[in-house]
Amino acid sequence: MQQIADDFREKDILSLEQFDTKSILTVLQQATHMADIATMAKPTTLLAGKIISLLFFEPSSRTFSSFAAAAKRIGAQTIEYQGMHVSSVAKGESLSDTIKTFASYSDAIIIRHPEVGTATKAAEASDIPIINAGDGIGEHPTQALLDCYTIHNHAGKLDKLKVVCAGDMKNGRTVHSLLSALSKFADNTVYLLSPESLQLSPTDKASYTENGLTIHEIFHEKDLPKDADVWYWTRVQKERFSSDEEYEKMKHRFILNLDLLNTYGNSNLILMHPLPRVGEIATDVDADPRAVYLTEQMRNGMYVRMALLALLFGEEV
Ligand code: NCD
Repeated sequence: MQQIADDFREKDILSLEQFDTKSILTVLQQATHMADIATMAKPTTLLAGKIISLLFFEPSSRTFSSFAAAAKRIGAQTIEYQGMHVSSVAKGESLSDTIKTFASYSDAIIIRHPEVGTATKAAEASDIPIINAGDGIGEHPTQALLDCYTIHNHAGKLDKLKVVCAGDMKNGRTVHSLLSALSKFADNTVYLLSPESLQLSPTDKASYTENGLTIHEIFHEKDLPKDADVWYWTRVQKERFSSDEEYEKMKHRFILNLDLLNTYGNSNLILMHPLPRVGEIATDVDADPRAVYLTEQMRNGMYVRMALLALLFGEEV
């Protein structure tokens, strides 16, 4: 897979594997400028004349609209498809032909698809940059970058952190990309709280630990560390289950409520969630000052995507 090596121009963004620490920090630094740009009264024209295609073959609220908003806030225009309504796809056209079509009309393609590896396949068919906005249970690199930005804004660093991730470690692509990002920085430790059947796959686990990440898999709330910097809660990924019954048994195994937060949390941690949540965080936690999922974390998605799009076209600020 092509490495970014701090030069984003015309590259595909498919996986966190492509990033070294310097490249991650460049996105974060650019995102800080983009946060200022987003609140400026005067529109920017950094990407004026560019057209970005958004092809989302799986449902999305935040990723889709934050990418669309990001493109527009820096002057690009968008072609937007959500669902299976792309005419040619509905008629049975191959992915490769569909990608070639959109590549001939636009300057970059952002794709979300239920199958692992689809973004990589799209990149093979395309001569313009492809951004992976989630490929099945695989990766969600732009989510990890916005998560890193959020953590960095609070902790001031991305190393020597203690991070709790809870929920669906097996199927959650946001966790996969976040662990990959954390494994690049020194001395990070993660506690993964999940039902045993939703543990990380051995292959995923080996790839993060080989990079130097310390992983503790835990199956009970009582094993939560009390000195974590971040709690990253996630939804059990219903659409990845073959039986509704199995999903129902798992979906609310770990609910974050004020009681749990006050028992195991400390006053400095931040509470994150990629969203959507479907009951695994009680709504009375939202008002806690440590909760950033409905506020900063979500907004940061737009800033980070503005930064990434600008970097792809060599238009950093
Ligand atoms: C996540 C996703 O689609 O992977 N949502 C998002 O992009 N913010 C998380 C999820 O759906 O659980």
